[in-house]
Amino acid sequence: MRKPIIAGNWKMYKTIPEGRSLVQGVIQKLTGYNEVEVVFCPPFTALSAVKDLTGGTSFGVGAQDLYWKEQGAFTGEISPLMLKDIGCDYVIIGHSERREHFGETDETVNLKVKAALAAGIKPIICVGETLAQREAGETQNLIKRQTELALKDIETSAIPRIVIAYEPIWAIGTGKSSNGTDANEVIGLIRKTVAGIFGNESAEQIRIQYGGSVKPENIKEFMDQPEIDGALVGGASLEIDTFVKIVKY
Ligand code: PGA
Repeated sequence: MRKPIIAGNWKMYKTIPEGRSLVQGVIQKLTGYNEVEVVFCPPFTALSAVKDLTGGTSFGVGAQDLYWKEQGAFTGEISPLMLKDIGCDYVIIGHSERREHFGETDETVNLKVKAALAAGIKPIICVGETLAQREAGETQNLIKRQTELALKDIETSAIPRIVIAYEPIWAIGTGKSSNGTDANEVIGLIRKTVAGIFGNESAEQIRIQYGGSVKPENIKEFMDQPEIDGALVGGASLEIDTFVKIVKY
């Protein structure tokens, strides 16, 4: 049985005090609720403060990116060892905003996935198509390719530690979510792709989330689908009550 995982991607929002009060509020309302694994992904500046609040609880902490080298002259970058040092459990890799604005490619995604795993941090790998790609009928091929390239040369034993987030780009921050059936179909394809490379057992273990305009009103539609194991939530993770409602779908 795959445990559902719901992660809040705060993007470039929340100061340290704002982040603290969000996390305190969520923890207070969800204490004792263990059906779902909950992960907070604040900006780098608030990671340590969030870790202080979640230490010793079942709540996880994730970064939103990392660099693949352990250390060196890479001004502005953050290494896997630094994230491990803070106590990060997860790291989001290859979010479409990083692919679009910051030059992330399938190759750098793969380097980052390997670096995270080597440091003992669990990657949340994002894949997804644009509206133009969807309308051109390219979704299946593109998602398959993104998945294969992200997981290139990964050891089979690492698969249970990996999370994939299927986020159709046209659904991110637009209020226009996919629907349960379509998302389930693409996520099923991702699982089939994993099975093709790593075998059925690994495919049954890997957790695959849906992301893109997830809110309290639509979370159940996604979580009711057999292939969908959780959600990567952006905007709706920034408020205590909406995020708690999503977790308690
Ligand atoms: P959204 O963002 O929930 O605001 O659409 C999701 C994401 O980018 O991870």
